Amino acid sequence: MGSRVGVVGAGYVGLTSAACLAHLGHHVTCLDNDESKVAALCAGTVPIIEPSLPELVREGLGEDRLTFTTDPRSLAESEVVLLCLPTPMGAGGTADLGVLDDALVALGPVLPPDCVLVTKSTVPVGTAARIPTLTGLANAVVSNPEFLREGYAVHDFLHPERILVGANEQNQEAAERVAALYARTDAPVLRTDTASAELAKYASNAFLAVKLSFVNTLAELCEQVDGDISKVTDVMGMDARIGSSFLAPGPGWGGSCLPKDTRALLASADAVGVDFAIVRDAVRANDHQRAMVLRKVRHAVTGSVDGSLAGARIGIFGLAFKAGTGDLRDSPAVAIARQLSRHDAVVAAYDPCVPPSDAHELAADPDGIQVLDDPYLAAKGAAAIVILTEWPDFRHLDWRKLSDDVDRPVVVDTRNLLDERVLSGTGFTVVGIGSPTTGEPRSAR
Ligand code: UGA
Repeated sequence: MGSRVGVVGAGYVGLTSAACLAHLGHHVTCLDNDESKVAALCAGTVPIIEPSLPELVREGLGEDRLTFTTDPRSLAESEVVLLCLPTPMGAGGTADLGVLDDALVALGPVLPPDCVLVTKSTVPVGTAARIPTLTGLANAVVSNPEFLREGYAVHDFLHPERILVGANEQNQEAAERVAALYARTDAPVLRTDTASAELAKYASNAFLAVKLSFVNTLAELCEQVDGDISKVTDVMGMDARIGSSFLAPGPGWGGSCLPKDTRALLASADAVGVDFAIVRDAVRANDHQRAMVLRKVRHAVTGSVDGSLAGARIGIFGLAFKAGTGDLRDSPAVAIARQLSRHDAVVAAYDPCVPPSDAHELAADPDGIQVLDDPYLAAKGAAAIVILTEWPDFRHLDWRKLSDDVDRPVVVDTRNLLDERVLSGTGFTVVGIGSPTTGEPRSAR
């Protein structure tokens, strides 16, 4: 028999958790204060791009195991309530817990005292322990961080590598109840105290960020010493201690998690006098990576890393922070497109998945990035095409046609997505990342 679960927040984490828990046999009520979103979800329309999520939402609705509401009282019968609310970057990089606090104030009077409160979205270390004091609620609080990748969120929820349940000594029974939610997955359940669980989530994301910044800097070094990043990472990746994932260089890491979580971890460490220098350097290297891409584009267009882009048309391929999502939050692609525009380039962008509302916002922005729904139009008259998101579709474009459409057949491929087979005979010159033929001229540095 499933549990009665409340999920607070219908964003990426909340909606995925709600739909997947319903799929696993629980009775889930998902609360969000956005009335139009709730109305759409009640009608089976999912506002985000996430494979299999629409199917699971409709399955849950159809089988009466999933409901959406804006009324906190609908959670009054819950045995477990998952808090899946945004914790954006606040002052000094600390996570802003305002939304979570407000939700707990609204929920306090309706929650049964034996209902377990679960922090699911990423919260700073110490939050679970502080919730009872902050809210005056006597409910047990359990930390159960998610490890969902956008674009694979449903897969990651249903087939997790690990399930993490953090609870303090007095809340072990509550922890059992939370672990039982996942009984129908075959993942190992790791039981810790709440602080370790909270920290493990930040540590995992920060470690990934460090790994990526390491690779991006290594790619820059390769360009200077006649190395080839793909060969170097092939060798590194075969060492099981290092692992082959997260070794692809790019325009810098982004998204709604890594940038925010690295800064929040730094702020938490700072607050207790711990200098987490390696994470700080990873953040700094990431800012450098974006600047490095800008230099590459300037060089590709003008022949000089500080040449003027005034009036040059640049065709951007990809705006999402990674392939498989339409999410523009903290996307390096958007940041780089904006930088190009601030250097007076005329920027036209194409991305297969960016929602129209975001496209309008970008066009209305003072940086004025025009978002087109046709890659050939985005490339028209361009002095360079810049690939910023690793959408595989870009490989299958008609590059011969593109070479006729552009002003100069140059592509800055910040994801090393295109290979010679794709471009052979098209006349395009490729500037990639991390090999001697793709770097900037050494004399320019
Ligand atoms: C990340 C973590 O991977 C998840 O485990 C975690 O649950 C999630 O944050 C979260 O905290 O909710 P996500 O933000 O979806 O997931 O993105 P990633 O797949 O981690 O990619 C992050 C960034 O690294 C992207 O900008 C991506 O393009 C970049 N990246 C990734 C590379 O540049 N190279 C790589 O080899 C891999």
